[in-house]
Amino acid sequence: MTRIPKHGGLDHSLSLLSDPYRYITKTCDRLETDVFHTRLLLQKVICMRGKEAAKLFYDTSRFSREGVSPSHIAKTLFGQGGVQGLDDEAHLHRKAMFMSIVRHERVDKLAATFRDVFQQRLVQWTKMNSVLLYRQVQEIITIAVCRWAGVPLPDGDVDRRTTQLASLFDYAANIGPKHWYARIARKQTNAWLGELIEQVRRADYQPPKNSAAEIIALHRELDGNQLSTHVAAVELNNVIRPTIAVSAFIVQSAHALHQHPEYRQRIADGEDGLLQCFAQEVRRFYPFFPFAGAKTRESFVCNGYRFPAGQKVLLDLYGTDHDPRIWELPDKFDPDRFKNWQRCPFSLIPQGGGDYATNHRCPGEPIAIELMKVALDLLVNYCQYEVPEQELAIDMRRMPAIPASGFTIMKLNLAN
Ligand code: HEM
Repeated sequence: MTRIPKHGGLDHSLSLLSDPYRYITKTCDRLETDVFHTRLLLQKVICMRGKEAAKLFYDTSRFSREGVSPSHIAKTLFGQGGVQGLDDEAHLHRKAMFMSIVRHERVDKLAATFRDVFQQRLVQWTKMNSVLLYRQVQEIITIAVCRWAGVPLPDGDVDRRTTQLASLFDYAANIGPKHWYARIARKQTNAWLGELIEQVRRADYQPPKNSAAEIIALHRELDGNQLSTHVAAVELNNVIRPTIAVSAFIVQSAHALHQHPEYRQRIADGEDGLLQCFAQEVRRFYPFFPFAGAKTRESFVCNGYRFPAGQKVLLDLYGTDHDPRIWELPDKFDPDRFKNWQRCPFSLIPQGGGDYATNHRCPGEPIAIELMKVALDLLVNYCQYEVPEQELAIDMRRMPAIPASGFTIMKLNLAN
């Protein structure tokens, strides 16, 4: 048996915070390994990267999720009691609820709603001096996803709700005032969505058939009971919040279009499958979540390494998406690499890996891809705009990582 290499030293939380997307890969490279022990927040943690590591990480007989999320993340990003912390039968059953919310035809409906709202906004943007894309797209998605999910949102509430919901993912990794803002926003949005769940259950409000609000409010757990109001609100938020987070992928897409203008013409020419390839490459290339966490159930040996029982393990998502053994020239933005891509559940993992229904892989992947494709189409084929001088470097310490400017565009005109 070989000992798992160790990143020696007291604690490496600061190294991780200062370079969250590259800490694991850099340390792996330095120690010439794909797996190493470290200490983060004074806790022993095993970090690993690559396709084989992903395959191991998504083996549910070896890893569990209960109690894995750090409390500052559970109290902002995820909420407490949601699907992310479930295992085994409870997870499968709750996950099936999510899979019924994101059925193919429902995703198409969301994409069509998003397109409508976005097109109306494009008209408004022609009258604005400058458009802060990140914020504007967040508002567009908030309106579209609430309409689709059966969550009433009066026009006067769009600004406030967008700010609250976006803070849940934008400030999740922050400490200090932003973290406290996100904790308050978590309480406010849970209270809002919890009230809606109660209204549906009392039949005071009837959401559209098969909407997320209806499915979650009426969902029954394995014991035959409905979800508590709190957990139902967390799960409805688990649909709405990450859909708004697709705004980061859309800003990254606009950034990629700006950096690689040759794709504008190819997209405008309607090249077959290019929107899909472009969206996939944005998800692979740009940083979003650095890693996912789990803990070992029992001790086991894999590839000669002993993993102790109850051991916290982080899987490097960004590093695996940039692993040169999987991706040729990984630091090159190259949508064409997806033209003949052999789909593999453990190589492209910006939203987790494995199987949607049985693992913790993100059920929102098709939503993210479809919304990105709509946004790309509208930004290329329905308008022209200029990108003024601004800080366009991707801020690698920000999560999700977008240009520090939030990406401003100007002089927008509708295409003829
Ligand atoms: C899980 C990323 C969009 C709902 C996850 C995971 C990641 C992720 C990394 C965890 C995988 C793991 O723990 O192994 C993203 C990114 C998105 C996105 C980067 C783009 C903005 C969405 C959307 C939805 C969604 C649009 C809407 C349905 C969820 C849920 C889980 C999840 C419910 C928990 C699944 C489970 O525990 O079984 N996502 N996601 N996500 N995502 Fe997403």
